[in-house]
Amino acid sequence: MSLPPARRRPATALALCVAALALTVPAAAAPEPVAASATAALPYQDASLPVPDRVTDLLSRMTLDDKLGQMTQIEKDSLVPQSDLAAYRIGSVLSGGDSTVSPNNAQTWADTYDSLQRTALTTPLGIPVIYGIDAVHGHNAVRGATLFPHDIGLGATRDPALVQRVGRAVAEEVSGTGIDWDFAPCLCVARDDRWGRTYESYGETPELPTAMTTFITGLQGETLGAGPASVLATAKHYVGDGGTAGGVDQGDTRVSEAELRAVHLPPFKEAVRRGVGAVMLSYSSWNGVRSHANRYLVTDVLKGELGFTGFVVSDWAAVDQLDGQSGFTGTEITTAVNAGVDMVMVPHDYKKFLTLLRGEVTAGRITQSRIDDANRRVLTKKFQLGLFERPLTDRSYTSTVGSAAHRELARQAVRESQVLLKNDGGILPLARSARLFVAGKSADDIGNQSGGWTVGWQGRSGPVTDGTTVLQGIRAAVTDPSRVTYDRYGNGIDSGYSAAVAVVGETPYAEGRGDRPNGLGLDQEDLQTLARLKASGVPVVVILVSGRPLDIAGELPGWKALLAAWLPGTEGAGVSDVLFGTRAPTGKLPVSWPKSAAQEPVNDGDGKDPLFPYGYGLTYAGTDPTPTPTPTPTPAPTPGACTARFRTASAWQGGYQAEITVENTGSAPLTGWSVDWDLAGSTVSSLWNGSLTTAQGHATVRNAAFNGSLIPGATTTFGFTANGSAGTPVPHCAGS
Ligand code: GLC
Repeated sequence: MSLPPARRRPATALALCVAALALTVPAAAAPEPVAASATAALPYQDASLPVPDRVTDLLSRMTLDDKLGQMTQIEKDSLVPQSDLAAYRIGSVLSGGDSTVSPNNAQTWADTYDSLQRTALTTPLGIPVIYGIDAVHGHNAVRGATLFPHDIGLGATRDPALVQRVGRAVAEEVSGTGIDWDFAPCLCVARDDRWGRTYESYGETPELPTAMTTFITGLQGETLGAGPASVLATAKHYVGDGGTAGGVDQGDTRVSEAELRAVHLPPFKEAVRRGVGAVMLSYSSWNGVRSHANRYLVTDVLKGELGFTGFVVSDWAAVDQLDGQSGFTGTEITTAVNAGVDMVMVPHDYKKFLTLLRGEVTAGRITQSRIDDANRRVLTKKFQLGLFERPLTDRSYTSTVGSAAHRELARQAVRESQVLLKNDGGILPLARSARLFVAGKSADDIGNQSGGWTVGWQGRSGPVTDGTTVLQGIRAAVTDPSRVTYDRYGNGIDSGYSAAVAVVGETPYAEGRGDRPNGLGLDQEDLQTLARLKASGVPVVVILVSGRPLDIAGELPGWKALLAAWLPGTEGAGVSDVLFGTRAPTGKLPVSWPKSAAQEPVNDGDGKDPLFPYGYGLTYAGTDPTPTPTPTPTPAPTPGACTARFRTASAWQGGYQAEITVENTGSAPLTGWSVDWDLAGSTVSSLWNGSLTTAQGHATVRNAAFNGSLIPGATTTFGFTANGSAGTPVPHCAGS
């Protein structure tokens, strides 16, 4: 069986262990280090052994401090000094919503990840760290990443296969920065649109989030770690976060167990069936009991009844909330861990956390078996992800961040997510020759169209990242851009325009800051802009950029058309594709649209009479309302691109022979190329068909004079013999 394409660069973990000997472990004596002279891998380091056996062997070598560290997740920016990652044996790092790197680009994120991982590998047992982040609509922490529609828009597509492809694209971009764990998908069932996280839900019925668990398969692959760029998925927030009274974020879901099981549990059941690796608990309560303290829901139902074998992670500082006081205590930690939390997102004071946790175990209030069960769950995912063999970033995916192919996929998702709610007189699709007036605060604002969790926790208006605004999409779609006038406030409109397009709605928010207990109406700026447009007598087409249905019943009669665009992300041209009929609208409402906020909660089948019902959506006259997914366009080839494929031709005790095939994947001939890879401690003894340089354990081979020029699609191969073992290198190719 040939090894799957490596996901990450191998690291000389054993060699790194030697460096750890000088470190002192603050809480206990350093365990017996792995003998530096050991050449044969220990059982837990032997990838040919079954994962359960590797876990058992590793557990047997771990001290209590090692085990407590594996249950600890820390915010990257709280790790001061970084060496504490090793000193305290911390097993996981995260980047919360506002955690970033500078400069904020994929390369810097990958370098940051690798630096943290190399620190983690200096511990005596060399257990790699697992790094989590909220890539909830693309790799949204990274400036320049592709941002897809938020979940409410993906729910409107009714296209689980598309959502799986989105998950795959997100996995590639996340992998390209080294990060191996995504706190997504949110499988919340949003029952009250006043909730600030409604846009993080695929819809108000259990069917939609259940169907869209395909995102998990996109992220992880069919089997976690079996293929390239496999990223651990997280079903969140368990359970019932979308059903709180009044839509209050982190509030209380007051429903019978029968309703909890019928409405909020099914998406998690499907996620477990799909092999989701992690489950994040909800801040919210069920009938007054915090999810983080609910042993019945977490251990008996999730782990017992549903058979979840991954690990349960707390939400950010959620343990602190259990006693109603600020900060966390040993008792709160014990309550959460004994309820079934396997890893605590502390996320800051790791020294206090580890001291308290150790005290609770020493006192017998948390049993050793609970500690071992939590470790077994966490370590199993680390082994399955391949972190022990390939702990560092696979840089071949770094270039996928914000790639043309991913942006095209995002544009398709935007197209399919548009829901047409009104189209009087068939004013849509607009003619490309029309003389248009475009207005509204969200017409030319990438931040507004991306919403929360966008290069920052709350997101913000303005040019926060690279992409195409709705206005830019409109200008690119018309035959003569000079016939498109834009004024944010509608000033200057006159009766000479064919139509006015008003792009209005919400500005970015996240979590509780988005709760709207006092109404869901448009803001004053939008209302004034719309009034200005209407007064001109020009037909008004409204595009609503929002994370949920808004209270627009009063204004709707004055509009000729209404298109719900949700929060489309960076590819605003997907909206204009529908506006001008490149693709007819096929989206269906994922949530009922209330006549007014006073109707909330309003949901399918509750007997209420919404403005537009769940599942509603128009299309253009004469078009097939059943969506025919747009064929995936082949990504435009790029000049100077090349790939390198490594193959071990033969191996023997102490050495091996290998060859690397270079392929020109670009659109122009390559006049030269270079390939670099990690030698994993081996040393090249002879090489042919290229010129070799080595530095810091890496090899770089450039083309020999006679084999430089490669036409698109052509390949050439160089070979070498080496002492040592090959590992599973992922060579990186650069063309010129
Ligand atoms: C936040 C959110 C959760 C997120 C976590 C880490 O508070 O509730 O969805 O994954 O913290 O950022």
